[in-house]
Amino acid sequence: MAERHEDNSQRFNTEGHQHNSDDKSLARSCQASSSSSCTGDGGSSPGGEGKRREQDIASCCRLDDLKKCHKKLGWLSFSSTHTVLIDVSIFNASKQVRPQEGRDMWHSSFVKMPFSPASVITIKTGLRKLPTQVNRWEIISKKLDGLASKKKLEVDDVAEVIIKFNPQYKDQWTFDALFSLVKCIPKEENYFNTLFPKIAALALSLPQHVKKAIPLLQTGNCAVITLSQVQISCLLANAFFCTFPHRNTSRPNAEYHNYPPINFNSLFGNWSDRKKEKLRAIMHYFNVVTDERTKPQGLVTFERRCLRDSELRSWRSCDEKLSNLYVTSKGNIEANCAGMLQVDFASRWIGGGVLGSGLVQEEILFLMNPELIVSRLFTERLADNECLFVTGSQQFSEYSGFGASFEWAGPHKDKLKRDEWGRLQRQILAIDALHFKNPREQYSMIKVTRELNKAFCGFKGHGDDEPDIATGKWGCGVFNGDPQLKAVIQLMAAAKAKKGLAFFTFGDEELANGLKQIYHLMVTEGITVEKLYGLLEDYCAVQQADSHSHVDLFKFIRDNIRCSRSHL
Ligand code: APR
Repeated sequence: MAERHEDNSQRFNTEGHQHNSDDKSLARSCQASSSSSCTGDGGSSPGGEGKRREQDIASCCRLDDLKKCHKKLGWLSFSSTHTVLIDVSIFNASKQVRPQEGRDMWHSSFVKMPFSPASVITIKTGLRKLPTQVNRWEIISKKLDGLASKKKLEVDDVAEVIIKFNPQYKDQWTFDALFSLVKCIPKEENYFNTLFPKIAALALSLPQHVKKAIPLLQTGNCAVITLSQVQISCLLANAFFCTFPHRNTSRPNAEYHNYPPINFNSLFGNWSDRKKEKLRAIMHYFNVVTDERTKPQGLVTFERRCLRDSELRSWRSCDEKLSNLYVTSKGNIEANCAGMLQVDFASRWIGGGVLGSGLVQEEILFLMNPELIVSRLFTERLADNECLFVTGSQQFSEYSGFGASFEWAGPHKDKLKRDEWGRLQRQILAIDALHFKNPREQYSMIKVTRELNKAFCGFKGHGDDEPDIATGKWGCGVFNGDPQLKAVIQLMAAAKAKKGLAFFTFGDEELANGLKQIYHLMVTEGITVEKLYGLLEDYCAVQQADSHSHVDLFKFIRDNIRCSRSHL
């Protein structure tokens, strides 16, 4: 199935309602003491020039000044908007994880499960090949049982069964990547032939583990799903064997055309080094979750949040000052910010090309934390005012490189603590930036406002004791965003959300230094969000006036601040 690509027919938010802000501004600029430079990159403090440089960026804070905390949770409980797939009474009484009883829902608001009695397949039987309808799970479970009973399996056995479940794709789906993986991995590392039967057994156990219908997190519908890591592994084992019905086509009129693909067929074909490394991460995940000694016992929560019109506040009248900012060109979001809200530079089809050839920030995040992939089963395409939060996903692998140089780098031992609901204290926020086929398109206040609202939707959180945000060049890679503009947009959204930001420029020294300096200037000048919004309006007007030259945003802001200072 063709990998889902971004279309640009994105609806843009118009300006929100007038924002009646009487909030006390939050500008907490922790003046770093003169002795400590806040390069955050462990930069040393050089001589005179260095002193001046330090003063230019003295408003930034250190990473450990930012909040890493977690909500105090009460009992695990379900509600009309929070579906829990495990028995909450047993869990609250004994912390034991048992599937919540329930009934199958073959319905447009629920995940259509492979074992549903309503899932039928037409086969031709008897001498006269009369078409008859049989329950699909009868066929699937028999085949999976056959595989699970073997000690070792070849890729041929896996491919044959997957095509048996999806006969209409016999001539389309290929398995060359899976074949090549098994062939090219050195014998001592090659556990795949004995792993295939375990994945089949895990897939076969789905009806015993997931009994309550899984609601779809549909567009415009703020809702939450909490399920166990074991339930997730059974669902992903079924995705591995491509058993989910109605999920193999994204034709415009298809039932799930607004959902990302979940079946793993596209991972198994089109051999490339990228595919090899992706498959190594996925197979490692299954190797861990099919082993009684290492299979994880916690819970994970997926929450779709929508920015309702009433929450859309006019950016023009937001008098918040900038909140804390830590900037570094070293490290990355996931390695340095445990305990903070980590931004996933998402596609609106959550997970993007993780099951295809994509291999940038979101796909890498999903390969290192494969439980995130299950969000594709029930998360409809994100609208402009929506985001997805995931709490509790486990990191199973390490990686090196990025894009074409990505390599799976072995197991990761997740040392994070778990909260009262048994969830690892990792919070991931998926927000999809706009994709600018022509970068010039982004210099428009309709698009700037859409990005502000998207980031604010994710950053605003729910309560006080929420962690600060770890982000970076959101929308500035595949999506062609202007890093300076996106940095200012995220600063504004964080200020309105009263959250601090840790900004990783991922090796971009120039951006790191420029951001520290412009942040320091704006903080010392007491620049508010509304003032910045006005500056962006002028900036976009200047950019649009002359589409052949590019005006550096940080310079534009600096010149404007100096100019308004000279008029005082
Ligand atoms: N930490 C910090 N910064 C990172 C990290 C990381 N782990 N990984 C990458 N970056 C930086 C890189 O500089 C990269 O160029 O973020 C930039 C943007 O990353 P992209 O993944 O290209 O993000 P974006 O431009 O938003 O594209 C999103 O790509 O992964 C797909 O599904 C995703 O369709 C979506 C699109």
